[in-house]
Amino acid sequence: MECALKDRRVLVVGRGSGIAQAITHAVRTAGAEVVVAGRDRDKLAASYDDPGITAEFLDITDDASIGTFASRVGHLDHVVSTASARARGALPQLQRTDLLLSLNTKLLGPLMLAKHLTPHMGGNGDSSFVLFSGVHAFKAKVGYLGVGITNGAVDFLTRSLAVEVAPIRVNAVSPGVIDTGAWDAMGEDGKRQYFQQVSAANPVGRIGTIDDIAQAAIFAMTNSFMTGVTLKIDGGEPLT
Ligand SMILES: NC(=O)c1ccc[n+]([C@@H]2O[C@H](COP(=O)([O-])OP(=O)(O)OC[C@H]3O[C@@H](n4cnc5c(N)ncnc54)[C@H](OP(=O)(O)O)[C@@H]3O)[C@@H](O)[C@H]2O)c1
Repeated sequence: MECALKDRRVLVVGRGSGIAQAITHAVRTAGAEVVVAGRDRDKLAASYDDPGITAEFLDITDDASIGTFASRVGHLDHVVSTASARARGALPQLQRTDLLLSLNTKLLGPLMLAKHLTPHMGGNGDSSFVLFSGVHAFKAKVGYLGVGITNGAVDFLTRSLAVEVAPIRVNAVSPGVIDTGAWDAMGEDGKRQYFQQVSAANPVGRIGTIDDIAQAAIFAMTNSFMTGVTLKIDGGEPLT
């Protein structure tokens, strides 16, 4: 697995913490150079102290930003997009603007990345995109309608892009509940209760870790016979 990423160049879009950071560290450990890109270049750069990681500005909802980034990024072997903007809430709370931002960030952003970046990627089946879906694509739950439709569409985008940009491979990772700070809005008590509830219901009896997800992202990048697949790394949550 390490050999497959050695001396490759990988783009990781998102923040300088959470799942994106775990993937960045895992990819570096496997011997690749990493370009991390997001809306706050300085904050991203401050998140890493490694000459093999360079930080770039990229707003995935802005085609001009994607175009400028693509024109100067150079060759890429793998592109990982973790960017998201969640539209949580039950139907009465949902706002069109939040839903549009969710779709724009997590669905259309990676689609436009594929449009602009495929010319900079190898075409021998060794290159790939790794998108991010999520557990509520596969488990309907009140409060997660906006999240679910976004992630469900990412699952379809993954299969569609796999055909469209072949032989570049396209896969997705669908995390279950991972404590990345993404649940902090629930408050300490609310978060603890929610994690206990999910852990008790999950067949594996726990929530996930950022390393569970980074491992899946590495697998998606390095298994050269896999494309159009969403890897469900969710502790079996949709089964219960
Ligand atoms: N954590 C979980 O439990 C969980 C569960 C299911 C799915 N997922 C998915 O896994 C992925 C990573 O999750 P996470 O919890 O580590 O991170 P996250 O909280 O979802 O963070 C995503 C980051 O994307 C960046 N972003 C937002 N809009 C952007 C834009 N227009 N351009 C570039 N970057 C943008 C933001 O970084 P800045 O704030 O620095 O700009 C944001 O913090 C996400 O796609 C998430 O939906 C996570």
